[in-house]
Amino acid sequence: MVALLPLLLAGCGGYQNTLNPHSHAAGDITNLFWVMMAVSFGGLALVTGLLVFAWVRRGRRGIGGDTDDPHPGEKPGWFVVVGMGVVFPLTVIVALFIVSDWAIIKVTQAPAASSTALTVKAVGHQWYWSFRYPGTKAVTADEMHIPVDTRVNLVATTVDVIHSFWVPELNRKIDTIPGQQNRILLYANQADVYRGQCAEYCGLQHAHMGMLVFAQPKAEFRAWLRRQSAPAKPPTTALAQRGEKIFLDGACSSCHAIRGTSAKGYVGPDLTHLASRTMLAGLTIPNTPDYLARWITDSQHFKPGNQMPNFPLPQAQVRALVAYLETLK
Ligand code: CUA
Repeated sequence: MVALLPLLLAGCGGYQNTLNPHSHAAGDITNLFWVMMAVSFGGLALVTGLLVFAWVRRGRRGIGGDTDDPHPGEKPGWFVVVGMGVVFPLTVIVALFIVSDWAIIKVTQAPAASSTALTVKAVGHQWYWSFRYPGTKAVTADEMHIPVDTRVNLVATTVDVIHSFWVPELNRKIDTIPGQQNRILLYANQADVYRGQCAEYCGLQHAHMGMLVFAQPKAEFRAWLRRQSAPAKPPTTALAQRGEKIFLDGACSSCHAIRGTSAKGYVGPDLTHLASRTMLAGLTIPNTPDYLARWITDSQHFKPGNQMPNFPLPQAQVRALVAYLETLK
């Protein structure tokens, strides 16, 4: 039994923890979990207790025993049957329904646009997230930033199949439906990094569709947004310049965009500020020069089925490409 505890507790603590809320909405969802848990355990204890009670007293009134009924007329009353069997469970279930379906929806629902200071648009792709900041040119992938203690209006949609935007420590899930814009309130009460995950099965690499939400102090966030809105700076070293030419002349630019260059592809993530991100490919691998090089030549090894084919380029070309991409801060 004790040996099983680590398994049970493995889901607790750290990243992406529903029971570690960092917003009012997520707090209410956590409370609902504990209320449901307590009521369920109460119900289990009650039923188990009654079963044990009946077993201990078996035979006394001829119920379940093999003796003749010594006390005719002493049957379990209608009160017990109707009260415990119908009225009590109905009351409990209706109460839980009201709490979960009314109170919780009220605190987690989409915010009134006037009550939010910022809108972020999240778009699901097979298999990564892109984030846009309306009113600016900023586009990023898999990693979004928001100001701390600020009501953010998150608008979610998809370019292909149904995904689900879910950052457990900040709020409930919201599905991304083709042709629809679903909204949710995103709020973080502490500057930190929160992990999120696509929560709707969307194909082979559904599990590799993670995202990070960086909640930052407001001034820091504004500076980040300014940097992300700017176009890419032209590379200065000879190696990086060679890399840029390979990128723009080759297959890369037909799927990826780099603002400030002629690359305007939209199938894959926008790479304008690729080097400012911590992870690659829906949080599949860390964003280091080595992993980036291996991703370019062998992306199907890390994420089989993803839309980027392997590019077995000569080592010198890969080095130049990586040198260029590393300048995209
Ligand atoms: Cu996208 Cu699962």
